[in-house]
Amino acid sequence: MKNVLVIYYTQSGQLREIAQNVVKELENAENVNVSYHKIQPIDEYNFPWQKDKFYDAFPESFLQIPCDLEEPQPELFSKKYDLVILAYQIWYLTPSIPVNSFLKSDAAKLILKDTPVITVIGCRNMWIQAQEKMKVLLNENQAKLVGNIVLIDRHINHVSVITIEKWMFSGKKESYLGIFPKPGVSKKDIDEAVKFGKPILNCLLQNEYQDLQDNLLKIDAVTINSFLVLVDKRANVLFGKWANLIIKKGKPGDKKRLKWIGLFNKYLKFAIWFIAPIVFIVFLLTYLPFIGSIKKDQKYFASVNQKLKNQ
Ligand SMILES: Cc1cc2nc3c(=O)[nH]c(=O)nc-3n(C[C@H](O)[C@H](O)[C@H](O)COP(=O)(O)O)c2cc1C
Repeated sequence: MKNVLVIYYTQSGQLREIAQNVVKELENAENVNVSYHKIQPIDEYNFPWQKDKFYDAFPESFLQIPCDLEEPQPELFSKKYDLVILAYQIWYLTPSIPVNSFLKSDAAKLILKDTPVITVIGCRNMWIQAQEKMKVLLNENQAKLVGNIVLIDRHINHVSVITIEKWMFSGKKESYLGIFPKPGVSKKDIDEAVKFGKPILNCLLQNEYQDLQDNLLKIDAVTINSFLVLVDKRANVLFGKWANLIIKKGKPGDKKRLKWIGLFNKYLKFAIWFIAPIVFIVFLLTYLPFIGSIKKDQKYFASVNQKLKNQ
């Protein structure tokens, strides 16, 4: 009997649906037992979000400061898992606070040690650097990353910025004004996530994951947008400066800190609507001279390899 554990956190339910589809083939297979663990913060992040709280989550998200979690049920530790599927969302270019907190817990150390892990990301479209942070967290737990599947909102960046905000603040995954497309990962992509089950099942049964990511890539598990790779990298530098500044202004909800959060919000809008288009023009103008390193990056970020610090 092979034991598979799906560890996930979700607010809207989108990521649970994706994860359930990814493991459908495994659940239907004989000799495979799939169980689920939902990460549960003690103080839940309410959904839909209040505007203030949404932006106020930025410093702790970005600086990867953990929150307190409910203790998992003892049964979770009753077996050794052959495979873990870790389904996570991105908050501010970083694994979300609940997922980051789980990965820093004793429970994660016990469950993930020497265990193959497949990460499943459901986000808007900015996940590249978050997955690099995830690789570090998995390493700290002595887990082995063997696969990565990324489902994003495929609409153009600025459209997805508008629609996700409406979704997060209303809680309704529906078309804004009847004009904009629905936010988040499309129903088609969520439904089609069942296709990832077969290559995963083959590897699980053979206990050999060497070719898994290559096989997942053949069925479009990951799409790399080189422009967003560049934006993500630059934004991480700037977010670092903002987060380190705001964290010194007080605890979440403090009046003084909220003033700074308001400024950060304005800066974020400015960066998205004015700086990102300039970065796009620079990206296009410098595309040819940088084609070699762009291609190298595409290959690396689609893989499950991890760069050493000085590479
Ligand atoms: C506070 C917050 C920050 C987010 N930041 C990002 C981000 O940096 N990049 C991204 O692609 N998506 C971002 N998202 C979208 C989430 O990754 C995710 O797609 C969405 O919250 C739905 O996930 P759910 O399954 O938890 O409902 C953010 C969402 C929230 C709530």
